[in-house]
Amino acid sequence: MTLERTYCGTPRRNDAGRRLTFYGWVDRRRDQGGLIFLDVRDHSGTVQVVIDATRAPDAHRAAHEVRLEFVLRVDGELRERSAQNVNPRIATGEVELHADACTVLSAAKTPPFPVNEDTEVDEQLRLRYRYLDLRRERMQRQLRARARFCTELRRAAAELGFVEIETPQLIRATPEGARDYLVPSRLFPGSFYALPQSPQLYKQLSMVAGFDRYFQLAHCMRDEDLRADRQPEFTQLDVEMSFVDEEDVFAALEHIIPAAWLACDFRGSPLTVPFPRLTWREAMDRYGVDKPDTRFGMLLHDLTETLKGTGFRVFAGTVAAGGVVKGICVEGGADLNRSEIEGRLTDVARAAKAKGLAYLWRRSDGWESGIAKFFSDGELKAIGEITDAKPGDCVLMVADSAPVVAAALGALRNHLGRARKLYDDSRVDMLWVTEFPMFERSEETGGIQPAHHPFTNIVAGDTDRMESEPLAVRSRAYDIVVNGREAGSGSIRITDPALQQRVFAALGINAGEAQRKFGFLLEAFEYGVPPHGGFAAGIDRLVMEGLGTDNIRDVIAFPKNQQAQEVMTDAPAPVDDDQLRELHIAVRPTSR
Ligand code: AMO
Ligand code: AMP
Repeated sequence: MTLERTYCGTPRRNDAGRRLTFYGWVDRRRDQGGLIFLDVRDHSGTVQVVIDATRAPDAHRAAHEVRLEFVLRVDGELRERSAQNVNPRIATGEVELHADACTVLSAAKTPPFPVNEDTEVDEQLRLRYRYLDLRRERMQRQLRARARFCTELRRAAAELGFVEIETPQLIRATPEGARDYLVPSRLFPGSFYALPQSPQLYKQLSMVAGFDRYFQLAHCMRDEDLRADRQPEFTQLDVEMSFVDEEDVFAALEHIIPAAWLACDFRGSPLTVPFPRLTWREAMDRYGVDKPDTRFGMLLHDLTETLKGTGFRVFAGTVAAGGVVKGICVEGGADLNRSEIEGRLTDVARAAKAKGLAYLWRRSDGWESGIAKFFSDGELKAIGEITDAKPGDCVLMVADSAPVVAAALGALRNHLGRARKLYDDSRVDMLWVTEFPMFERSEETGGIQPAHHPFTNIVAGDTDRMESEPLAVRSRAYDIVVNGREAGSGSIRITDPALQQRVFAALGINAGEAQRKFGFLLEAFEYGVPPHGGFAAGIDRLVMEGLGTDNIRDVIAFPKNQQAQEVMTDAPAPVDDDQLRELHIAVRPTSR
């Protein structure tokens, strides 16, 4: 068998004189009567083909019928182009193929959008004709980069002794907190498989099984509302390790991800290792969010102590009620005008539930603002010192409960960072955020839920507070954050049955329910479980960051649209009654 083929983008001047065959799609066609020029394209690039009516009449006749995107085979002799015909913009610009045969392997309809140019095309149309979209140069490049990244992740993981284990797709529900996609069972009426939200339980069972280091490029499914960096199906680099603590997991990831990143030359620059670390508390205090964008400053400053007795009633009242006051300093913010602050910026703060946004401009001769008069000279001086505001800057402040203040200023900081271009777009900041809270309050139910998942271990000194102050309990969970986006998460797991029971109890899961949902895991742990921990990195998100795109669909071959539809094959779709009957399912008509 021979796999030898000359790709369209490869011939160079020193190939002149060779007889070559090219296969590909028609990228351009110029008909000059006796001479027809075709650019033939494959994934590697294009080559110019010249078809001369006198030299190759049959080929010329065939080429006459050819249109864009026809699939061809062309045979001929490669020649150097004359000096005036050299095209320095393409790699094959010094040569052309003088064809003696041109075979149409397949005709093509006129494509619904140009395949041969990187023009803006409506995304729904791109998704509807995804195979044509993928044929375009940019998508070829991006998906090949993704493939390369995956290959290199595998290589780097294997180097560290990780064993690739495939875990099942038809499983019981996993506890990742999103809605499950369910698959009805034909053999067990009324019973359902869940598609995995992650391989979490199987990878922990692999540790009980003694694999020591597991990894998988795991396909995960979650029925969640979609965003620019979220798809219902996505891929994780999923790992789990035995006899480890945080440091070992960090070291493994700081080898695997940067090695693959470097091999792909993502952003033309290697990642800096070790990744800097922030505790969750530090991230919230300084950046207001648990996924800080550290490419720029504008940190949050605490003004609560300074302003607790201020004449500005809103602030003093908030502090008296147990709230906090914090501020950020916008460098050069003198150019922010009143209507901008009270309009757009206040909207950003209000969207995060703040009641308002207070502001002070620092001038060379003092402070200016409608509210400056409410503050004493001492308070203004302290605000200037704490926020490090210089003449020409503007201080923005919010008073409220600590979480609202953090969310509002965090959102403002991100907004201003983007709007004022406070960072270099080519920069990539990858960091660890550690010691996430173990529990959080569910916005839907008001009850306590795990911030990560219920198998996450707890910081040693914090277990005592589990019953009295659950929301203050720190977990041994950590995230990787890249440029303000969560790119991965993991934790050291609980292996102590007594502690696990207490976590279930704190979550309101009684023994019976725990047994029913996770009995198999708890039972496995009774047969000798090594201490273990792991991580899952979002491959789609890492590739997005590596290629510098903000759209997750740019790095997934066949993604869903924002309504979770696959518009090319038209899924989801109704199914035949017969099929439903076999699955013991009746569809109840719903009004939408
Ligand atoms: P988690 O649920 O945080 O952790 O997921 C890990 C990473 O997967 C990526 N991710 C997504 N990417 C695209 N679309 C989605 N809908 C989506 N959901 C998640 C993110 C995220 O950081 N089993 C645990 C890991 C562990 O504890 O080892 C887990 O799945 O980049
Ligand atoms: P008011 O006294 O309500 O007219 O508000 C005066 C200024 O303080 C306005 O700019 C409000 O947006 C701002 N403000 C009101 N409440 C808060 C708050 N909780 N935190 C920060 N600024 C506030």
